[in-house]
Amino acid sequence: MTSGSTPLGARAGRILSGIQPTGNLHLGNYLGAIRNWVALQNDFECLFCIVDLHAITVWQDPKELIRNTREVAAGMIAAGVDPVANALFVQSHVPGHAQLAWVFNCVARIGWLNRMTQFKDKAGKNREAASVGLYVYPNLMAADILVYKATHVPVGEDQKQHLELARDIAQKFNIDFGREVFPLPEPVIRGPGMRVMSLRDGQKKMSKSDESDYSRIAMTDSRDTIALKIQKARTDPNPLPSDIAGLEGRPEAANLVNICAALSDRTAEDILKEIGGWQFSQFKTQLTEVAVSLLGPINAEMARLMNDPAELDRILARGAERAGAIAEAVLKEVYGVVGFLPRR
Ligand code: AMP
Ligand code: TRP
Repeated sequence: MTSGSTPLGARAGRILSGIQPTGNLHLGNYLGAIRNWVALQNDFECLFCIVDLHAITVWQDPKELIRNTREVAAGMIAAGVDPVANALFVQSHVPGHAQLAWVFNCVARIGWLNRMTQFKDKAGKNREAASVGLYVYPNLMAADILVYKATHVPVGEDQKQHLELARDIAQKFNIDFGREVFPLPEPVIRGPGMRVMSLRDGQKKMSKSDESDYSRIAMTDSRDTIALKIQKARTDPNPLPSDIAGLEGRPEAANLVNICAALSDRTAEDILKEIGGWQFSQFKTQLTEVAVSLLGPINAEMARLMNDPAELDRILARGAERAGAIAEAVLKEVYGVVGFLPRR
């Protein structure tokens, strides 16, 4: 940790990003989200929020939730998120999120929420049995962003609609009360849109909820486990092609090549020039080396942090203090604008 890092507030804009503490952090989370946050933290003032309030919109075992919250924090720090230069904190530690979400429940319209595709997907056929929290989830997400007046939000495809809703809420609030309280947050679209696929099925996304542990490389996997999972990864019988066109109709080959490219900061074209004509066994040996050399140190640092929960909790407390100071001021402003009698 550096003590000479840029202070919060001195950078180009303010980023808020959230990740759910639902366990099983994997290579997809690392390459698709966490690594992007690490890259953004030099240019923006960043607030990284572990969204436990969002997690309980579906059932969470309480003991697991605590464990998973620390695991996500450890994973982010191990992957390079600097908790001194940025605020890394737990959502429930800053009461302003839930407080502003209530105000937004009264700003957002039922018709807006009815259009949210994530609710439809997650609630499934039995809408009546879904929690009310799952339904108003996007209002809470808007509050996460706007309680810091964040200007930029890194999001993947699946969260774009929620960010649009946050902009609608900000705009309606500003118009309703005739004051420019909230900025309209901009999406920061991730670079090449990295999608890591399952190691068992190249057509399915690598996911924490896949029942096969062999479908994903977990951020907590040891070197040996990583090696074994890559060795067992599904392939097809042909040697590797020497150009991108040759990956057509070969999703497993494409996935392994893309993973190798992302992990080694090279293009897939470049990798294919080198490995065209190789058998999978030879390529897998190389991929294992690349994966282990990058993920090994992250894994070791994560294990160290997980063995020191008191240290992790201190880091998160410091993050909550910094985030809380910003949130408290914005909430006070909002309460004033809405017309709540100030408490004396
Ligand atoms: P989730 O674990 O689904 O809550 O996702 C947490 C973050 O990781 C989100 O920003 C996702 O877009 C990203 N993510 C999850 N799975 C993948 C994947 N297989 N490939 C790329 N990004 C992913
Ligand atoms: N909904 C996001 C997800 O499932 C997590 C999230 C909650 C978030 N609050 C946020 C993301 C605010 C960005 C900004 O991945």
